[in-house]
Amino acid sequence: MERLQKVIASSGKASRRKAEELILQGKVKVNGEIVTELGTKVNNTDKIEIDNELITKEEKEYYLLNKPRGIITSTTDEKNRKTVIDLIKTTARIYPVGRLDYDTTGVLLLTNDGEFANILMHPKNNIDKVYVAKIKGIITGADINKLKNGITIDNEVLTATKVKLKKVDSKSNTSIVQLIIHEGKNHQVKRMFSAVGYEVLKLKREKLAFFDLKNVSSGKYRKLTPKEVAKVYSMKK
Ligand code: URA
Repeated sequence: MERLQKVIASSGKASRRKAEELILQGKVKVNGEIVTELGTKVNNTDKIEIDNELITKEEKEYYLLNKPRGIITSTTDEKNRKTVIDLIKTTARIYPVGRLDYDTTGVLLLTNDGEFANILMHPKNNIDKVYVAKIKGIITGADINKLKNGITIDNEVLTATKVKLKKVDSKSNTSIVQLIIHEGKNHQVKRMFSAVGYEVLKLKREKLAFFDLKNVSSGKYRKLTPKEVAKVYSMKK
């Protein structure tokens, strides 16, 4: 079930704001009845009309992009920079599921299915987000434990479910660390490392839930299969 104004907006007939006005003006019918309540929920089989004209709903689309560096994770940008949406050929109003920073690479899902996106982003579903970070310095066991035990930053406790040291390079004074987190707070990985005294030089999301980068090179994308979409729906708690 989705909110009526959202369904109208995703049909392309009106913006969300305009859709709300149309509802309040009594111009919208659901299954032949005028509806003037903004929170009204509708499902896929409900017939929605605006000024007696049936709207068609946008098909749901799902993509996995291997996000390259130097692209913003947003649908639009006021500075007209390239966004992840520009990399995908579609006319559907898709948006990214969560965010990766401008300089972060890796798995990014995009869709126009709000419920699908919510399942992957809601902390209660404990979805694994697997990152690999190249950091400045040789990380100590004590600092790895701090990341695992949770670090309080700006009144929030940020925790990594798993932290694994993959490699140390004493020549370049860098470490490669893999961490699994369940939340998706703004700049979470960088903030966590910064709190224990390390700068992140490179960050890649290797996996989100069961989605990885297999057969998808940087800047390329693929459609999800119906089976994968169903599997995400089955992860809802
Ligand atoms: N954590 C970060 O700091 N940046 C990202 O892009 C993703 C997670």
